[in-house]
Amino acid sequence: MKKQVLSSVLCATMAAALLAGCGSTSTGSAAATSAAAAATSQAAAAATSAAAAATSAAAAATSAAAAASGSTIKVGFAQVGHESDWRTASTNSVQSALSKDNGFDLEFVDCDNDSAAQLQAVRQFIQDQVDYIVIDPIVSTGWDTVLGEAQDAGIPVVVIDRTIDDSDKYTAWVGSEFTNEGLAAGAWLKEYTEAKGIKDVNVLVISGTTGSSAQLGRSKGFDQYVTSEGWNKLDEQTGDFTQDGGQQVMESYCKSYQGKFNVVVCQNDNEAFGAEQAMDAAGVSYGVDGDVILISFDACTAGLTDVLAGKINADFQCNPLQGPDCAKIIKSLAAGQTVEKQTFMAEPWYVHDSDLTSITYTNNAGQSVTEDLVPVTQDIVDADY
Ligand code: AHR
Repeated sequence: MKKQVLSSVLCATMAAALLAGCGSTSTGSAAATSAAAAATSQAAAAATSAAAAATSAAAAATSAAAAASGSTIKVGFAQVGHESDWRTASTNSVQSALSKDNGFDLEFVDCDNDSAAQLQAVRQFIQDQVDYIVIDPIVSTGWDTVLGEAQDAGIPVVVIDRTIDDSDKYTAWVGSEFTNEGLAAGAWLKEYTEAKGIKDVNVLVISGTTGSSAQLGRSKGFDQYVTSEGWNKLDEQTGDFTQDGGQQVMESYCKSYQGKFNVVVCQNDNEAFGAEQAMDAAGVSYGVDGDVILISFDACTAGLTDVLAGKINADFQCNPLQGPDCAKIIKSLAAGQTVEKQTFMAEPWYVHDSDLTSITYTNNAGQSVTEDLVPVTQDIVDADY
C-alpha cells in the first residue's frame, strides 16, 4: 500500500436574511393591532440585535487589544481530518505557522471528516473563549447558526481551504478556486484528446467528499467540459478523498465498465493511488503509455512522483500551504487592521508530456485565461509538499 507520510513543509509552490413579509388580508382594528404588535416586535428585535452587535464589537476589540499587547494569541483550529497527504500538509502548515514561537497558543481538533464533530469543536472553542477560530469546513453548508454564535461571542473566524457557502459571518477566507481546478482539468483533457486523435471520451469520475466545496467545484468545472464536448460520463461516485475509497470505487468500476472507459478522473491524489491499485489488479493499463488517461488533483509529492513516472497524465494542484497566510491574517486582525475577505492560493497545473505547453479556458469569473502546463521534473518533485 502506498500510504504517504509527509514531513513538514517548506516549499513555496504556487496557490439575506430576507424576511419575507407574509401577506395577510385582515382588515380594520385587528389589522391595526397586528401591525402595531409587529412594529413593536421588530423594534425590540432590532434593539436586541443592535445590543448584541455592540457586545460583539466590544468583545472583538478586547480580543484584538489583548493580542496586540504582545500576549499569546489563543486560536482554535477545527481541521477536516487526516484523509489525505494534502490534509497532512495542511495540518503541518497551520501548526508550524501558528506555533508558540510565533506567538500563538493553538488548540487543534482533528474532526475525522465528521460534520457534527466539527460544529461541536467550534462550539467548544467559543466556550473556551479563544481569541480566533480557524475552520476548514468539511462541507460547505450548515454553518450560519454556529458562525452567528462565534460572532455574538466576539470571536473572529478565519476559514481556510474549503469554502462556506451558506453564511457570510466569517472574517476572512484563504484557499483554492476549486471550480477553476475542474475547468483546467477539462480544458487539458480536451486539448490532450484532440492532440492524440481520441474521439470517444468515456469518463469515470471518483469524486471527493460529497458536499465539500472541493468536490462541488471540481465536479462543476469539469462537467462544463463534459457537456460542451459531448463526452460520455459513465459514472461518478465518491471515494471520500481517501486511498481506500478510491480503490473500492475503482474496483467496482473495473467490473461494471470493463473495456468501456478510457479516462479516469480522481478528485485527489490519494484516490488516484487507490485507483491505480485497482486497475493494476484488474489488468487495466493507464497513464501516458496506457489505455486509460488518469487525471488527478492536489499534486502532492507522491502524486507528482506518479506524474513523472507517467502513471498520472495530469495533476492539478490544490495548494495546502495556507498556514502562513492564516497567521498573517490573524496577526493583522490582532493589530486592528482590516484584511481581505478572500485570498486565493497560487496553483500550477502539472503534466507528464511536454507537447502541450498551455491551456486556455474561461475561468469561474468569466475571464479567458491562458495558463502554463508544467512538465514535472525530479527537482519539482523534490521541492513539493
Ligand atoms: O479541501 C482540499 C481537498 O481535501 C484536497 O484535494 C484533498 O486531498 C483533501 O482531502
